[in-house]
Amino acid sequence: MVPSLENRTIRVSPGGSAASPAYDVTIGPGVLHSLGSILRRLCPSEARALVVHDSGVPERYAAAALDSLRSAGLEAIASSWRASESTKTLHGVEDLLSLLARERFDRRGVVVALGGGVTGDVAGFAAGVYQRGIAWVACPATLLAMVDSAVGGKTGVNLALPGGDVLKNMVGVVHHPLAVVADTELLPSLPPRAFHSGLAECVKHAMIGADWGDPELMDWTKANLSKVQNREPAPLVELIARSVSLKATVVAADERETSEASGGGRMALNFGHTFGHAIEPLAGLSWSDHSGLEHGEAVGLGLIAAARCAQRMNLVSPEVGDEAEDLLRRCGLPTRVHGLPDNDTLIARMRHDKKVRGGTLRLVLPVARGRVRVVAEPPIKAVAAGLTAIRA
Ligand SMILES: NC(=O)c1ccc[n+]([C@@H]2O[C@H](COP(=O)([O-])OP(=O)(O)OC[C@H]3O[C@@H](n4cnc5c(N)ncnc54)[C@H](O)[C@@H]3O)[C@@H](O)[C@H]2O)c1
Repeated sequence: MVPSLENRTIRVSPGGSAASPAYDVTIGPGVLHSLGSILRRLCPSEARALVVHDSGVPERYAAAALDSLRSAGLEAIASSWRASESTKTLHGVEDLLSLLARERFDRRGVVVALGGGVTGDVAGFAAGVYQRGIAWVACPATLLAMVDSAVGGKTGVNLALPGGDVLKNMVGVVHHPLAVVADTELLPSLPPRAFHSGLAECVKHAMIGADWGDPELMDWTKANLSKVQNREPAPLVELIARSVSLKATVVAADERETSEASGGGRMALNFGHTFGHAIEPLAGLSWSDHSGLEHGEAVGLGLIAAARCAQRMNLVSPEVGDEAEDLLRRCGLPTRVHGLPDNDTLIARMRHDKKVRGGTLRLVLPVARGRVRVVAEPPIKAVAAGLTAIRA
């Protein structure tokens, strides 16, 4: 295929209910400059916008977003915040809610989230609960947010328990954006570690591609990884568009993650995450010369653990885990981590995951190249084998 630098627009149609109207994801270099005209078409003329931007995102992108909104005749103000897993809390949401109230935003207000997955999750959640829900627009600034978190409507924050334990994404709402504007010109400034972290979700999509209408995604990703790593515009647009299309297909089939289909419906997107969420917030982990785990790093390790767990249960051949491990390594991601607590502790943490129902651990496990299924209460020995496989 000849790569095209034309913008791509993908329609997300979640469930078809009036509460979750369809929206477009616009992908390409420079599309942030169209933010104002996109909003103008979707919002009442008196709408006001609050641009919530992560201070880690270069200031010029926030200025471009504001310019675009104001040129389109929208009243817009900006507020910057420091996005991180430790600010992704109810306090972070409360700060935004209080700003919206102080600035007298009403139900015609629009929150524009300019940042990575953390900013989208927090600003989208604030929009979802302010005056019982106002509109929001996602302007993802990381690869992870473009290929995954900006699409599908899940928003929310981590919950800190007394004693210091942190439960990932434990509180939130499904609140779809009005539009997603994914400008690939924002990606060159992204630090390598954050870029690599986004690739983990792309590997996850490749590993479920055959179930969701893109069986070629694994081969395409392997063949084009070097160009993607060099952040060449055309392969980046292609990678993001294919990921968004896949996620749109999943969300259209099972918006609220209620499907009991063996392939898991939306739960398939949780592949690697029950393992990953259990290890992501842990202190004292390290790999290569990095300390701690970014979200995508934990997800990548979770994919390996899930594949090795499935291998131990004879659900899948070793080649599926080998291929995943090799690709994750080429993405600059960890395949082993130092400092993990013992398996019993980790399995107890996995039982805290949101996907646990009635105390039953449910894992998304690979059953073939590109295919997964949900397994309820897998043998503990197999889960432990998965965890042992990612221990340095
Ligand atoms: N809602 C969902 O469906 C969903 C799906 C997947 C992940 N997530 C969540 O997403 C979060 C991870 O997202 P993330 O990896 O984007 O992390 P992030 O938002 O923390 O961004 C990573 C880092 O990159 C910096 N940054 C962002 N854009 C930049 C740019 N263009 N140039 C320079 N620096 C930039 C940020 O300041 C930050 O330090 C996790 O909290 C995860 O739980 C949500």
